[in-house]
Amino acid sequence: MLDFLGTLERTHTCGELRAQDAGKSVVLLGWVNRRRDHGNLIFLDLRDRYGITQVVLDKELSLAAHAKAEQARPEYVVAAIGKVRLRGKDVVNPKMETGEIEVVASEIRILNDAKVPPFSPAEEAISNEEVRLKYRYLDLRRAEMQHNFEVRHKVTMAVREYLSQQNFLEIETPFMTRSTPEGARDYLVPSRVHAGTFYALPQSPQLFKQILMISGFDRYFQVARCFRDEDLRADRQPEFTQIDLEMTFPQQETIFRMVEGFMKAAFAAVGIALPTPFPQITYDEAMRQFGIDKPDLRLPGLTDVKEIFSASDLATLAIDPALPVVALRIPKVGELSRKERDDNRPLFDTRKGAKYIDDLKRLEKSFPNAVVKLRELTKAEEGDLLIIVAGDAATHIQASDTKSEGRLSEREIAVYSAAGNFRVELAKKYADRHGAFAVTEQVVASPDRRTGTVDGSAAFRPIWVTDFPMFEHDPETGKWMPAHHPFTSPHEEDMDRLTSDPASVRARYYDLAMNGLELGSGSIRIHRQDVQQQIFTALGMSEQEAKERFGFFLEALQYGTPPHGGIALGLDRLVMILAGASSLREVIAFPKTAKAIDLMVDAPTPVSEQQLRELHIRPVLKD
Ligand code: AMO
Repeated sequence: MLDFLGTLERTHTCGELRAQDAGKSVVLLGWVNRRRDHGNLIFLDLRDRYGITQVVLDKELSLAAHAKAEQARPEYVVAAIGKVRLRGKDVVNPKMETGEIEVVASEIRILNDAKVPPFSPAEEAISNEEVRLKYRYLDLRRAEMQHNFEVRHKVTMAVREYLSQQNFLEIETPFMTRSTPEGARDYLVPSRVHAGTFYALPQSPQLFKQILMISGFDRYFQVARCFRDEDLRADRQPEFTQIDLEMTFPQQETIFRMVEGFMKAAFAAVGIALPTPFPQITYDEAMRQFGIDKPDLRLPGLTDVKEIFSASDLATLAIDPALPVVALRIPKVGELSRKERDDNRPLFDTRKGAKYIDDLKRLEKSFPNAVVKLRELTKAEEGDLLIIVAGDAATHIQASDTKSEGRLSEREIAVYSAAGNFRVELAKKYADRHGAFAVTEQVVASPDRRTGTVDGSAAFRPIWVTDFPMFEHDPETGKWMPAHHPFTSPHEEDMDRLTSDPASVRARYYDLAMNGLELGSGSIRIHRQDVQQQIFTALGMSEQEAKERFGFFLEALQYGTPPHGGIALGLDRLVMILAGASSLREVIAFPKTAKAIDLMVDAPTPVSEQQLRELHIRPVLKD
């Protein structure tokens, strides 16, 4: 028989009581986390969002309450009415915040029962993620998940508060709109009223926020939901949230200072001191030094080691002398066996004609001096893993050789990125050995964060990556594509090369990376219609096509558009880092699987023919 709550109100949460509360009469309400039956004594661990408190039922003190507790099972919802008592010295539990006390119950009410759950929310780790997602409400009861959403809330609040103090207005923009320029596939919503037409869900509020600048709002932000139908990964969800902002008359640095400000506030909100300003690196330098445009600064970068080989050495080793020769170093990995090295082979991307040398013993036999110099240049210590990456003279990298003034060529980038990606993969694989990532885990798990602020300078390594190329060449179509989106402003001094040498044009486009993850992207925008038109032309987009896709925006640009710029940070990614989680699914309450399915509500689903007909859509049967 279930009991009624009646007029009962809780006096304390399940995480609140301490030694000084001994003797108090209390009412606790929560779920049965665990139940231990010792005959005359029953222990119920009562759980809520705030923690766990041990409730004791003593048959000799209260027969009725003891009998009730006998019926209680895990995940039952229970009221415990009783007195706080200090635990005996030998049974104090230092791992529990309430571990100094227990509540001796005089009455227990069972407010609701529960089916035997498919897994216990009391467990720390549940290996079957599908079951977790199907029974998400049980999964979300777990302490770790409750913590993650507390982090998310604190971060969001801190960002809102900071930006609001800086005069930003939060303005909502539509979900039902038309295609935005981020370049992923759109989610479409068919219109019932206008047969054969569709709204698109926004991939970001990009054009709306630019229009808000044209509308004179000066400083806008939004915690904005975005939708992209793209291949999903651990750091990609089909719907995700951006901290999106835009400002009128900014320099790039104005935007950096603003983001650094809210990042510092967000980290402080969860007890981590993040030093500002963040370092900056240009895209080209990031490629040279890390072989990737989202460098992880917790590990050493690449070293240019071409000088260790003579021209004839390079020829003997079949290394392309025209391309970079770089070394990657992962500290403290120790010597790898032949088998371990073979196992690493698939982690290296040879498709673009790069190759590597990881057998230094063998190299040393023929080129002893080179290996000595290699160790010097990379500052390698005993036990560090060293690998040389270069262009393969035999396969000759299949990419454009053209090198624009001062920029890296595609072939150079091919070598750097093969090295950079290999570095990332090996760093992940040998994380236990080099320990560089453990620093972050330690700070995330640090109990001191609750009472004060811990130093996050080594654990969280932000970096601005600037001056991205304006265009990327698409080998399939032979066309130039915008590296960010087509509303990004080129550098003024590069404008005259828009059509003569597009590869050399730098954009006023920047990313914020942290610990090897792209956290945010933004740019100074084009605010003149004539420049916008030139960019469309450089992208091979006809006037007609530009009008069809973005006509409303091109029109708006003509009514006194101020210079403006902005950025969007992935809120989910930021929280993922701060929660020490390995996937966005840990920080989104109701996420989708890698196949874009919501296992709890079971979406997407087929709809009735009637609904389709109303939407003017003819059902096509699957084969
Ligand atoms: P961009 O497309 O680079 O820029 O997105 C900005 C940031 O949003 C996050 N993000 C995602 N997070 C989770 N799942 C996804 N599928 C996903 N896609 C992107 C990333 C990324 O850095 N309108 C521009 C911003 C601007 O120019 O102001 C834009 O959306 O953290």
